[in-house]
Formats: sequence, structure tokens, C-alpha cells
Amino acid sequence: MDSWYINKIAGAVLAALLIAFGAGTLAEIVRGGHGDKKAKPGYELPVTVAPAGGAVAAAPTFKFADVAPLLKGGSAESGQSVFAQCRSCHSVDKGGKALQGPNLWNVVGQKIGGNAGFSGYSPVLKAKEGNWTFEALATYLNNPIAAIPGNRMGFAGIKNNGDLADLLAYLRTLADSPVPLPN
Ligand code: HEC
Repeated sequence: MDSWYINKIAGAVLAALLIAFGAGTLAEIVRGGHGDKKAKPGYELPVTVAPAGGAVAAAPTFKFADVAPLLKGGSAESGQSVFAQCRSCHSVDKGGKALQGPNLWNVVGQKIGGNAGFSGYSPVLKAKEGNWTFEALATYLNNPIAAIPGNRMGFAGIKNNGDLADLLAYLRTLADSPVPLPN
């Protein structure tokens, strides 16, 4: 065996090794199994993240800033149609009687839970500080339970900002001298 022949064999072996390793690496790249997965030893346990607030999925947070710019252009007439959802529980005429909920004449600007003609307030609404500003009303009517936990208004809320602005424009008309719209 001369050295030329030995070189030839050695070259063939090297080439075969290169191909074998190359193919192995290529196969791993294709499978996507290279690196990452093996970086951490052990098994990854599946983690279930519970929604905030327990079983009830968190509602998207309401921002009055999204409704405020719509108030000026709000249509009281459309708001009256939106109010169809409220009519079974609320009268709106001046001196109207309380139904399941209080009469809503003069509600904008009024003390929260402060309608003397209504005796069915929940303790939380009665104890709540402040007046029914446009912001307080919008936040409450968007999601009553989230806004004032423990209140007794059985209503899911108005989620559409345009409807909410129209509804506020309508509620505002239920007064001898309507509260000015916020700037
Ligand atoms: C199923 C009956 C029901 C429906 C529907 C309903 N409400 Fe009420 N609402 C109530 C009750 C009951 C209360 C008193 C809640 C409490 O004291 O916890 C209340 C309270 C309110 C208050 C607070 C009044 C105050 O004197 O502080 C406003 C404002 C109000 N509702 C507006 C509306 C509007 C607007 C709608 C429709 C978008 C509506 N409600 C739909 C039953 C209802």
C-alpha cells in the first residue's frame, strides 16, 4: 500500500464523516429540535393561568375618555331607543312612580342613591359617595356590577360607546334644566 492509496482512503473516511455529521445536523435543524428545548433539563409542566377575578373573565376596562368626545354629538332621540332596555325597571316622567328601580327624572347630577321616592336601594348604592356625573353614569351603565360591586341593578350593561353617549344625551333631557355637557 503506497501513501497515495492511504491518503485516498483517509479522504474518503473524512468525507463520509462530514456527510454523516452534516446530515445529522441538517436533520435536527429541519426538525427544529436543535438547542432551545434541550437547554432546560426536565419536563415543562403545563401552566393554566386563571383569569383575574376568579371564575368570571375580566371585562375589558372601561375608559370614560372613549365616550366623552361622543357626548356632544350624542342623539337624545337614539338614546330614547337605547332606553327601551331600561323601561321595564325605570320610569322617567317627572314624579313618576318607582318600579323595580328608582324613577330617573333629574338623575344626572343627583346624589347617587339619593332618590327619596325609592326605598329599594342596596346598601352599597345608598352608601356610595358622590353625584351622578356623566362619567359616573357612563361607568355604571357600561358595567353596573363591576362599577359598583354589590348593587342590585340586574342589567348587564351597554357596551357600545355610541349607544352609551346617546343614552346619556337622553338621560340629560329628563330635567327641567339639563346639566351642561362636559367640555
Ligand atoms: C332589571 C331591572 C333594571 C334594569 C333593566 C335597569 N335597571 Fe337601573 N336600576 C335598577 C335597580 C333595582 C336599581 C337600584 C340598584 C341598587 O340600589 O343597588 C337601579 C339603579 C339605577 C340607577 C341609579 C339611580 C339612583 O337613584 O342612584 C341608574 C342611573 C339606573 N339604574 C339607570 C338605568 C338605565 C339607564 C338602564 C338601562 C340602560 C337601567 N338602569 C336598567 C333596576 C334596573
